[in-house]
Amino acid sequence: MTTKMNDQTIKIGWKAPSNIALVKYWGKRAGQLPVNGSLSITLEKSTTTTFLTFSRKLKSGGAIEMEYFFHGNKQEKFSEKILSLLNSLIAELPFLTDFRLVIESENNFPHSAGIASSASSMAALALCLVTMEEIVTNVYLPEADFFKRASTLARQGSGSACRSVYGGIVSWGKIASIRTSSDQYASPFPVNSESRINHLRDTILIVSSEEKSLSSSSGHAAMADHPYWEGRRVQANGNLELITDAIRNDDYQLLSKISENEALSLHALLLSSSPGIVLLKPNTLRIIEEIRRFREATGLDLLFTIDAGPNVHLIYFEDQREMIMPFVSKTLSQFCENGTWIDDKIGTGPRLLTPKVEL
Ligand code: DP6
Repeated sequence: MTTKMNDQTIKIGWKAPSNIALVKYWGKRAGQLPVNGSLSITLEKSTTTTFLTFSRKLKSGGAIEMEYFFHGNKQEKFSEKILSLLNSLIAELPFLTDFRLVIESENNFPHSAGIASSASSMAALALCLVTMEEIVTNVYLPEADFFKRASTLARQGSGSACRSVYGGIVSWGKIASIRTSSDQYASPFPVNSESRINHLRDTILIVSSEEKSLSSSSGHAAMADHPYWEGRRVQANGNLELITDAIRNDDYQLLSKISENEALSLHALLLSSSPGIVLLKPNTLRIIEEIRRFREATGLDLLFTIDAGPNVHLIYFEDQREMIMPFVSKTLSQFCENGTWIDDKIGTGPRLLTPKVEL
């Protein structure tokens, strides 16, 4: 291990995207491991930017010294969460106690918009930590190992974050038909370069921007003694197998069937938790009805998915965007809070913002 880094201060930055799951991770085992496999689309525009600045402490070891800023402000709640994550990572990243750390983070999308900020923020932080590890240990990883390690660390911050380390379509969770799959980290799912899947769009229809009444952790916890636990595990892994076939074969009907089944099953599980959790709003249901009606009438390839909240992600293809946008602006926007939606699309994954440091 190198000791070249003495009184230097180094700043590294990563921009990482959020993602939207088509097959949902819902329910976890110890070690933040998923009960079932999941698959997501990495977004392009909805991102978190995180800078990590570090300098060696006068005396190594002891407690982690960290300051955390969110949009320039100290944020107690997030700061505690990050500190407890860093503490849990000391065994894996022992150098963390040797440096003073300043973490500055910003999201470029509104809070509670139905876009998972924990996914992008934990992915950006994990990428910064692996970059820091390379610098302080002077061991530079081959690219594939770098991202695998970042995905493993991101998972420990937030399960869905492990998928945000890669662009395109990403899976997480061990299943037979994906050779590289693991419960520990996500892996990019190969898509034929000719496929329309490479040109997916996601229009996020904001039904309500109110603070979520359910944290992901309590939602996952509600699965632990859920009467449908086993059924859900089997259903999700089956859906993951089917959706990978749909992607491999460009079978858009199957893609929408599975995605919508997953979104509605997630809410069926929430509704049938004890006590039941109701996150859908009347306008969420109106939007679902309208999307299905429009698809039936036009034969266009579009589908919806919903996370643990009321907002609806309308997923479709770039080559049909011109026909779909009038439907969004004239029909669906009526059911959105202040007529608001956010336009995003499938993205290429995280980006290093600072020059590579090699001491
Ligand atoms: C419904 O990854 O936010 O969005 O691991 O507790 O941080 P934690 O949960 P989180 O759960 C995401 C749940 C979901 C589905 C998904 O993204 O797969």
